[in-house]
Amino acid sequence: YRLVVLFGGRSAEHDVSRVTAAHVLAAADLGKYDIIPVGITRDGHWIRNDKAIAALGELALDPTATLSLPDALEPAGTEVDPLPVLRSDDPATPIVVLPLLHGPQGEDGTVQGMLELAGVPYVGSGVLGSAVCMDKAMAKVVAEAAGIPQCKWLEYRAGGDTQAIADRVEDELGLPAFVKPANLGSSVGITKAHDRAELLDAIDLALQYDEVLVIEEAVTGREIEIAVLGNEDPQTSVPGEIRPGAEFYDYEDKYVTGAAELVIPADLDDAAAAQVRELAVTAFSALRCSGMARVDFFYEDGGRGWLLNEVNTIPGFTPLSMYPKLWEATGVGYSELIDRLVELAVA
Ligand code: DAL
Ligand code: MG
Repeated sequence: YRLVVLFGGRSAEHDVSRVTAAHVLAAADLGKYDIIPVGITRDGHWIRNDKAIAALGELALDPTATLSLPDALEPAGTEVDPLPVLRSDDPATPIVVLPLLHGPQGEDGTVQGMLELAGVPYVGSGVLGSAVCMDKAMAKVVAEAAGIPQCKWLEYRAGGDTQAIADRVEDELGLPAFVKPANLGSSVGITKAHDRAELLDAIDLALQYDEVLVIEEAVTGREIEIAVLGNEDPQTSVPGEIRPGAEFYDYEDKYVTGAAELVIPADLDDAAAAQVRELAVTAFSALRCSGMARVDFFYEDGGRGWLLNEVNTIPGFTPLSMYPKLWEATGVGYSELIDRLVELAVA
């Protein structure tokens, strides 16, 4: 296969994507794939970066490494047009695209739509699943319709009455509450607001990233994540637990300090583990995912039990990331995982 690896991109998760790509490229079996790394700059230019491959040999896959950006994966090189780079000059070599782009304009169905039009197979969810999962408000509506339990939440749109939404948050959700841009990941733009003043500031901050916000009750419970792999009849990993190093599992915690503790497998009884794995498949299928996803839950012990938090269609693959670690613990190593994803893309 010719594997076109897309990384970087225009979203606020650009840096996370580059680290994800560095590690995926370093782990891919280069004998099996003719890899074409294509970096997308923050302003949207597509850059073919063949230098990345040579430099990746020197990149140590240090499981304790925090988010450091390998210079090798600066999107530098020759600018290319998106569509020609997706065509093979040798018709005998099939092309598969591995979009390792987190956030809008990469994980949200836009790139997937272009690849559909170009007729090129790609790893991960299609247009609809990507778009629905990227938008936390839309995903909640769909999950609710599918009967999947979730925390209480409200939607707010730019230009709305902020005092009125603050009243509703206090009455219906209580404080603290989480304020999130609907379309982003890696906790960028998210605040845990403890009082009304913080809530209003949090809304201002989140509006810098998106016009639609979701405001969620703060669930007191455990954070449990499941990795899903497959298409119609997907497999699930053992559950993993996040024990945040900060007040919540924020960007610093995820990629900078690495202070969060990942407990794999999570300490759950068999019935609870089986239940959450089944719920992960229900969410994966209700939200029209395919290939891969990481499905994140809260577990309210003694209370409401399992609550869906969100589904990530292109989960992080950094050394600190849950998705590859969950598969490792379930018996699927990093390079086998890449092979399986490519197989699923062409299936
Ligand atoms: N959005 C980040 C990359 C994740 O879900 O892992
Ligand atoms: Mg996310």
